[in-house]
Amino acid sequence: MALLNILAYPDKFLAKKAKTVTNIDGALQKIIDDMVETMYDAPGIGLASIQIGCDKSIIVYDLRYGENERSPQVFLNPKIIETSGEIVSENEGCLSVPDFRSDVKRSASVIVEALDREGKPLKIEAEEHHAIVLQHEIDHLNGILFINRVSTLKRELYKRHIKKQLKQDDN
Ligand code: NI
Repeated sequence: MALLNILAYPDKFLAKKAKTVTNIDGALQKIIDDMVETMYDAPGIGLASIQIGCDKSIIVYDLRYGENERSPQVFLNPKIIETSGEIVSENEGCLSVPDFRSDVKRSASVIVEALDREGKPLKIEAEEHHAIVLQHEIDHLNGILFINRVSTLKRELYKRHIKKQLKQDDN
């Protein structure tokens, strides 16, 4: 297994849409294993393929973040097929958006269809924190970062902060 480089905003790849996985082979399993390892190493609750520069539709996450026991979830081609209710995620963050946290409006519950890592179809209903994590990671597969879901003012402040930092790094 290997640790992968996590892309950070404003990397343009983060705005890409992931493509449907059609071929479940050894190379794909290696990407999944590397994504899981990279997620735990970061550490983060979830990681989407787009964040590591891969355009295959894959997300991994572990809701037991911070606990001793690990239980990584792997979904291929995840799609939200139903949403209901409204909830505000408190202090949402993202490995690709360093130094920024914000409350984000999300659906309170979602139904997601996906394939597991062996290609078996599955359908899950998720609520609250689980629903937020799924929405955040599936957004990545559609080229959407959570800063696209905050107020224009907050987003512009963050963009300015990043620009300043990039300039400092150049000097
Ligand atoms: Ni993220």
